[in-house]
Amino acid sequence: MTLKGTIAYLNGTFLPLEEAQVSILDRGFQFADGVYELIPVYAGWPFRLQAHLTRLERSLAEIGLGAPLVRRELAVRVAELIRRNATGDGKVYIQITRGAAERDHAFPSDTTATVVMTCAPAEPIPETWLSEGIAAITAEDIRWARCDIKSIALLPNVMLRQRAAESGALEGIWLHQAQVTEGAASNVFAVVAGEARTPPDGSRVLPGITRDVVLERADEEGLPVRSGPVTEEELKNAEEVWTTSSTKEVLPVTRLDGQPVGSGRPGPLFRRVREAFRARVASELAQAREVPS
Ligand SMILES: Cc1ncc(COP(=O)(O)O)c(C=O)c1O
Repeated sequence: MTLKGTIAYLNGTFLPLEEAQVSILDRGFQFADGVYELIPVYAGWPFRLQAHLTRLERSLAEIGLGAPLVRRELAVRVAELIRRNATGDGKVYIQITRGAAERDHAFPSDTTATVVMTCAPAEPIPETWLSEGIAAITAEDIRWARCDIKSIALLPNVMLRQRAAESGALEGIWLHQAQVTEGAASNVFAVVAGEARTPPDGSRVLPGITRDVVLERADEEGLPVRSGPVTEEELKNAEEVWTTSSTKEVLPVTRLDGQPVGSGRPGPLFRRVREAFRARVASELAQAREVPS
């Protein structure tokens, strides 16, 4: 993210990013005591905004932090941030922490939450990721057992992504007791015997919004894609593997731990699902343009 010229939002104020500062006593900094959301933006329009805000409200409730802004206010501020940054294709990060307080693990009684929003242009998806696929590695899932909360405590994910980068891979895939959970920053689908499966919702998986759009579209199109457990062995012998995320949409994984996945090329089901996903983004964008908010 380039700092210059970027406008951030901090506790009710829009200001240049380099001027946006929070206290070193903020519990986000001290304890990673907070949650976040990333909302993809297409042509200045936040995709599936309500679903992202619902997930944010759920994350806040699960950590015992009341929503500091009502949904409507948050939505207005997201739109304003996009407008002030003249963002076309991009992403909005919302981060909410329990605020600044004297260091003590238990919740402080009289602290105001810190609300931060930033907006950045999207990094274009390189054509080769789609035509050749990406590489991924697997690792034992060392995270906590509440990965359904979109917590800002991301150290294991940071370490896995670094390991992936050091081995020339783009993503890391977590395995818990020989079952796939998800990626370092994505959900995972594996095609086994012609059918794609993605690990179901549970405490070790973030309920991904891109994943939900893929499941929804596949259902509408009658494609063999569903939610269901995927074993480590199934992943390693899969015909196709894909990742889904708001920033990278649907990507084919064609190398896993240095071995080819299936034919080693992006598979036919991936192509259909990605097309269906893109078509849904385009149709929702067209609809949003018809109905001004
Ligand atoms: C751990 C994890 N799982 C899944 C996802 C995908 O979620 P979404 O499609 O809502 O971006 C993300 C996205 O950042 C993530 O960090």
